[in-house]
Amino acid sequence: MVENRRLAVIMVGLPARRKTFLSLKLQRYFEWQGYRIRIFNVGGYRRDISGFKSSTSDFFDPRARAFAQERERIAKQCFSDLAVWLRAEGDIAIYDATNVTSARREYLISECLRNGFDYIFVENICDDPEILEKIVSSKVNTSADYKDKKAAWAKKDFWERIRHYESVYETVGEGLPNIRLFNFGERISKNFDPGHSLYCEIAELLESVNLNGKNIYITRHGETFFNLEDRIGGDSPLTEKGVDFAKKLNSHFTGRDLIIFTSNKRRAVETASFFDCEKVCLEELNEINSGICDSMTYDEIAERYPAIHDSRKTDKFHFRYPQGESYRDLIQRLKKAILRIESQRKDVLVIAHRAVNRCLFSYFIPFPQGDIPYIEMPLNKIIRIHSKDARYAFEELSI
Ligand code: SIN
Repeated sequence: MVENRRLAVIMVGLPARRKTFLSLKLQRYFEWQGYRIRIFNVGGYRRDISGFKSSTSDFFDPRARAFAQERERIAKQCFSDLAVWLRAEGDIAIYDATNVTSARREYLISECLRNGFDYIFVENICDDPEILEKIVSSKVNTSADYKDKKAAWAKKDFWERIRHYESVYETVGEGLPNIRLFNFGERISKNFDPGHSLYCEIAELLESVNLNGKNIYITRHGETFFNLEDRIGGDSPLTEKGVDFAKKLNSHFTGRDLIIFTSNKRRAVETASFFDCEKVCLEELNEINSGICDSMTYDEIAERYPAIHDSRKTDKFHFRYPQGESYRDLIQRLKKAILRIESQRKDVLVIAHRAVNRCLFSYFIPFPQGDIPYIEMPLNKIIRIHSKDARYAFEELSI
């Protein structure tokens, strides 16, 4: 799957720069594509190894030499585990830690070179006091370090920890492969070999994600004449029942500030036709290309192409229609749509197709690859997906 050598993504940033959030986003995006990717979080190692004493700001004071040495030891232990995993069974490993000093980064580079890993630094810089205040407030409520601590005390202590890191912070040098994010979406700078496809993909995702929570609604087009005959593909218009669904869908969202993404197939565009909000047609949302089977019924396929029928049953995720696509291909095609959805700051409604919606849904709500082609995705069903920090939850809506 991976054309490059094994890759270490090294996060850089002060505490409260949402490094773990970005790590989780990267993990999901690449896991969805089938990469073996894992996050190694130094804070977690620290809590396991040093326990309670390491949860307050004193532990992070660079003048406290014994603590500083302990922190270095823990960071090295974590990276050593990362290296073992990446050498043995991984494609991409994310090293989720502050890594704010050049000395630490030099150590990491030497380890990457020694192990034959590619590496890239992802530095997250934020100096917007409003954003930081929000992150710090939410962090002290959720961090295991401040469990059972009063919020006001925890906030003061956490700011103190940040100041300790600020006192030794050195930004990543220009000569190193890096992606820099400024104030979460304000701007991004990239400095790496553009021929490295994984670096490019990482940058594309990081450029798209933002901290805004939003709802993502996914539905199929209304009923079509092809649906009545159980035919796949084609470009059939809606039936009367399909038009009714389109009207109901529009009423359901009345007054909501939405952007709608449809495929460029007639049935999806017609389903969106009653909306007067912003609508964008994306070719990449077109249904799986069923190649020589396009416009046939499943019974016709079984009769005319029994080998196709059988191999589709054996491994539906990897099965590729002759002159068409597989579910695996479809996921590759849908990356662009996912980036468009991630980059929105308002709610999104996607009107697309069964296989497409299964693949999109499985980005937000993880499924084993082999199960993706069997996710229930009937007509007239709307799924609301909403962000829960870097994860998503969903519910089905009836209209
Ligand atoms: C932590 O211990 O919470 C972070 C350690 C680090 O990255 O410096």
